[in-house]
Amino acid sequence: MSTSGIVYRPRRLRATPAMRRLVGETRLHPAELVLPLFVKEGLLEPRPIPSMPGQVQHTEETLGRAVAQAAEAGLGGVMLFGIPERRDATGSQGDAENGILQRAIRIARHAVAGADGGSGPVVMADTCLDEFTDHGHCGVLTGDGRVDNDATLDRYARMAVAQARAGADVVAPSGMMDGQVAMIREALDEAGFEDTTILAYSAKYASAYYGPFRDAVDSQLQGDRRTYQMDPGNAREGLREADLDLAEGADMVMVKPAGSYLDVLRAVADRSDVPVAAYQVSGEYAMIEAAAANGWIDRRAAALESVTAIRRAGADVVLTYFALDIAGWLG
Ligand code: PBG
Repeated sequence: MSTSGIVYRPRRLRATPAMRRLVGETRLHPAELVLPLFVKEGLLEPRPIPSMPGQVQHTEETLGRAVAQAAEAGLGGVMLFGIPERRDATGSQGDAENGILQRAIRIARHAVAGADGGSGPVVMADTCLDEFTDHGHCGVLTGDGRVDNDATLDRYARMAVAQARAGADVVAPSGMMDGQVAMIREALDEAGFEDTTILAYSAKYASAYYGPFRDAVDSQLQGDRRTYQMDPGNAREGLREADLDLAEGADMVMVKPAGSYLDVLRAVADRSDVPVAAYQVSGEYAMIEAAAANGWIDRRAAALESVTAIRRAGADVVLTYFALDIAGWLG
């Protein structure tokens, strides 16, 4: 008979590493991690991104090696971003057959083919104009400087087809234009790319956490993206965006950023029958790196905890700059 009167002792299940391992609810595996990679046209040496320690703008040559490394680590995917030498008002390099992103996709395709027996990583491409426009917005502009939704859709459709033609498994529209998923699906199907998968950035917020990414892609954006990306305070609206993307034929939906939007992620996961992704963005990465560099936080523990929390909140797939590190730690 217990003398303390305590009946329930949850600590029993935490008492040993073996027990904790047995009852762990959320596990990380490299297969569900996607590594974002940047490649810059005309670069001779990889260039470190100061606000994202450990991440670089790749040359075409080092990109191939990075993708091979991702394959060796067993990562589930790579998400490619291209930085062109020339930018213009309509982002014409975005869908040019020989544009940097299309070249990067072909390089990644090649590296994957050499590295695996069909087990990945899946080659994904960002389908958005901001890296390619001289004004840095995610779409084309009207005469008075607003982002023109419907004119932008045509650009996205062409980009998606160019990416599919270059060998992308997944196109990922991230511009938050209305109707973008339906438009891209129709264009892909018409061009014979029925099997190209759409990962929709569905609930994408106008976030301060994209700051370091702007360095990573040499962004020239003046102002902000609040006429197309969502207000950080809006959760219900994020669900509506996800519902619309599902109705338009998205194969996967995404919430972005991740760490500050775990409630939205959980709610999207609860109503989605397709896989749900979350993007731990540049600023989330930079905060952990900066604190760790100062000795204020344990880098490895914080990286693992943050990604575990994103999985716990409902993400099947996590895009994270820690992907290679985590694969290594999981050993
Ligand atoms: C748009 C895009 C952005 C990110 C991914 N895709 C930038 C933006 O919307 O402003 C941000 C990713 C990150 O911060 O890591 N091409």
